[in-house]
Amino acid sequence: MTSRVDAAVRTTATRVTEAANLLRERGVQSPRVGLILGSGLGDLADEVADAVTVPYDEIPHFPLSTVPGHAGTLVCGMLEGTPVAAMRGRVHFYEGYSLREITFPVRVLRNLGAEVLVVTNAAGGLNETFTTGDLMVIEDHLNLMGMAGQSPLVGPDEPELGVRFLDMLDAYDPELRKAAHAAAAQAQFKLQEGVYAMVGGPAYETMAEIRFLQRGGADAVGMSTIPEVIVARHSGMRVLGVSAITDMAVGPAAVNTISHLEVLAAAERIKPRLIAVVRGVLASLASD
Ligand code: HPA
Repeated sequence: MTSRVDAAVRTTATRVTEAANLLRERGVQSPRVGLILGSGLGDLADEVADAVTVPYDEIPHFPLSTVPGHAGTLVCGMLEGTPVAAMRGRVHFYEGYSLREITFPVRVLRNLGAEVLVVTNAAGGLNETFTTGDLMVIEDHLNLMGMAGQSPLVGPDEPELGVRFLDMLDAYDPELRKAAHAAAAQAQFKLQEGVYAMVGGPAYETMAEIRFLQRGGADAVGMSTIPEVIVARHSGMRVLGVSAITDMAVGPAAVNTISHLEVLAAAERIKPRLIAVVRGVLASLASD
């Protein structure tokens, strides 16, 4: 028998199909790679050729972003010989959405055909060898919200979407991480690599929280990405995550007060290198 809670939530798959069908009607071709562009990093979508652009508010069930710097459009087309669907803007837990709602677009990208998810974000640096402006390939994550019982997979099971008990070892694809480093080397810069921790936000961390995260092995901290990565893995996608270190939470460069505007300004400076990394990874996928 289907319980009431089942009936209420077992609709994700149906909603995903409705959203994907609308996008197909709009002329979106099957993407190979889904791109999520984080705070201040959305301009990469301008580089997509032969683009079909659909505002989020025209896509059924898509969550709408409300934060400055997170305009919401899906841009589908070609980048470096690879069909992509780029999310210009994403929503965050702190905007009041559930993790299930936040990750809905990833399910739609998968339904359209994406096999790979490249997810970017702005993050605070916790590793004292990092500096503001660095890019960090995510090697692994600390899912603080998940450890506290908040996961996009919480709720009635929908086996058509993925398995109930998800393996998260090697969630961040070693081959894609290698391709990211190779792309950076080609463009003559180095990438950091490390562990990303997600907090719920929207308040930034206290000094005690920063020390806690550092001692727990986190190299960077942000307010996004992990839910999307979980859902991408749940639906069988390979994942690359890259953090733009927009401020240093620790060390000599640490500032006591950090603002969203500073984060956006730093993301702006980092953007050209991030674009080089994403382009290089896409080119390596095209030649697979
Ligand atoms: N903490 C959390 N989220 C962030 C930060 C930070 O220092 N910088 C950018 N996003």
